[in-house]
Amino acid sequence: MCGIVGYAGHQEAAPILLDGLSKLEYRGYDSAGICVQGPWGLEVMKTKGRLQALRELTREGAKLPGVVGIGHTRWATHGAPSDRNSHPHLSDDGAIAVVHNGIIENYLELKERLIARGCRFQSDTDTEVVSNLIAHYYAKTRDFLEAVRQAVRRLEGSFALGILCRENPGTVIAVKKDSPLIFGFGQGENFIASDVPAILKYTRKVAYLDDGDMAVFTAHAVTFYNALGDPIKKKPETITWELSAAERGGFPHFMLKEIFEQPKALRDTLHPRLQEGQVCLDEISLPEDYLRGIRRIYIAACGSAYYVGCLGKYILEKTCRIPTEAVLASEFRYASPVLGKDTLVIIVSQSGETADTLAALREARRQGAGTLAIVNVVGSAIAKAADQVIYTWAGPEIAVATTKAYSTQLSVLYLLALHMARALGTMEEEALSQATAALEALPDQVADTLTPERIAQVQHYASALFDNHDVFFIGRNVDSATCLEGSLKLKEIAYVHSEAYAAGELKHGPISLIERGTLVVAVATVAELFDKTMSNIKEVKARGADVLCLTTQDLAAEAEKTADFVITVPRIHPLFQPSLNVIPLQAFSYYTALARGCDVDKPRNLAKSVTVE
Ligand code: F6R
Repeated sequence: MCGIVGYAGHQEAAPILLDGLSKLEYRGYDSAGICVQGPWGLEVMKTKGRLQALRELTREGAKLPGVVGIGHTRWATHGAPSDRNSHPHLSDDGAIAVVHNGIIENYLELKERLIARGCRFQSDTDTEVVSNLIAHYYAKTRDFLEAVRQAVRRLEGSFALGILCRENPGTVIAVKKDSPLIFGFGQGENFIASDVPAILKYTRKVAYLDDGDMAVFTAHAVTFYNALGDPIKKKPETITWELSAAERGGFPHFMLKEIFEQPKALRDTLHPRLQEGQVCLDEISLPEDYLRGIRRIYIAACGSAYYVGCLGKYILEKTCRIPTEAVLASEFRYASPVLGKDTLVIIVSQSGETADTLAALREARRQGAGTLAIVNVVGSAIAKAADQVIYTWAGPEIAVATTKAYSTQLSVLYLLALHMARALGTMEEEALSQATAALEALPDQVADTLTPERIAQVQHYASALFDNHDVFFIGRNVDSATCLEGSLKLKEIAYVHSEAYAAGELKHGPISLIERGTLVVAVATVAELFDKTMSNIKEVKARGADVLCLTTQDLAAEAEKTADFVITVPRIHPLFQPSLNVIPLQAFSYYTALARGCDVDKPRNLAKSVTVE
């Protein structure tokens, strides 16, 4: 949460910082600010609200002349969104300016000590202790780098920091621990940012900072230091994807664009790993001996990634016959999990920086379990901390609500399931070949699901049903796991109260909430369980519910006899059917949110990456 940028170069810094922040708004968007080292020292402008408010306040940056600066877009953790709590934060003496992504866990203790020394604070944030602490050491040492080092040694928690010092014009210091930070190498200019899109317009050469790393840079030079303070070399990596991947490209919202990018994201993720009719996962090593010793698999993740794990349980148990459990990362390490060498913990995360998921991964490693991460962001904390990584190649996902990352995470679980099933011999050769061929066809089948007619039909239903206050998603087996995702999408972007229940569970309590006009979305694509779900539909209809049923084309005629509205998807290999089922649900949430006038890409109170526990 929160995005930071920094610049030292030959161009006006403020417009570059504003442009960079516009690519980071997905990380937080309740306030924004910049500090430029100008002719009169450190000039700060910041404001509550979206970046647009800062653009207006600074007149697109024209009010802050200077060629060195730092910027921030915020998702509030300590202190409400307000002008005063917005970053950058100046030290009490005005010598140091700081932007921060992360949380300083011991800030209260540090603040008390600084107050005792006469330091005054203007905000409720944890970040202001950082600027004041650095200023404290700077007053003692008169050495910017040394002051930052001494201050950082006293900080507990997570931080990516961009720091300016009034008396060291031209220099920016950046520090990273447990929050992402990249360095961008330019020509006569250098950059830092929380994520690549913020600087991709200016450079493709980047270095990923590791925990404890520091970068001290000017327009023409950079020195990197490791956690021990030793100078280190960082090899620039070249970003190969285009900035257009992180732009709306003619779509009204990133979410819609990303829904339609799913076939490509799946192709990029699956096809290089499907060779000559077999799954080929060169990037990991799960030898047969090791797999035979695995007694239990946990899939630990948060939010939608956890719901991918809920599907993963069905997929892995069916194909590999290893007991598998999806666990909420935020609960995992507090539940005293019994882990060891015979446990494989699969970690699923788009951002690769979700604090709870990272903590679950560390707990698994601490207890000696094998860890395998499925991650979208290259070089992220989770990717670095896991024993093994399989990247999803979804490209940058900008909309806060995940769509293409979810789909690619699921596709990696399919790959893993088939890979492990082959090693373990838990699937017949023929079944394995059929499944592998079906997996290869999946990106095209997802494209076939995204037809204009189907999407228009979903939009039509959304515009008729958008006004419901309560929605229930019901389904059986894998459909119940898809319901969890459909329901989350609706809550997070359309602000509709919705719940997901295994269809058979409704009569054990929640059916008492069904009344005239309640919307029930029934997902009924598992052929063997179709009749049972139809019975559940009849039960809710008898109590006044309106029912929208999602089923496969072959079952449409039957579903139409019972449900009020029916949406269909093509029927494919049952293992991969959930990948098609989720698509109309994503579109339904999108159009419901639009009909309700919600900000689809930036829903209230949320941020794309959740780096607080
Ligand atoms: C929902 C959504 C979130 C994330 C969750 C985990 O649309 O995007 O629920 O799935 O916050 O995030 P990652 O995958 O980055 O760990």
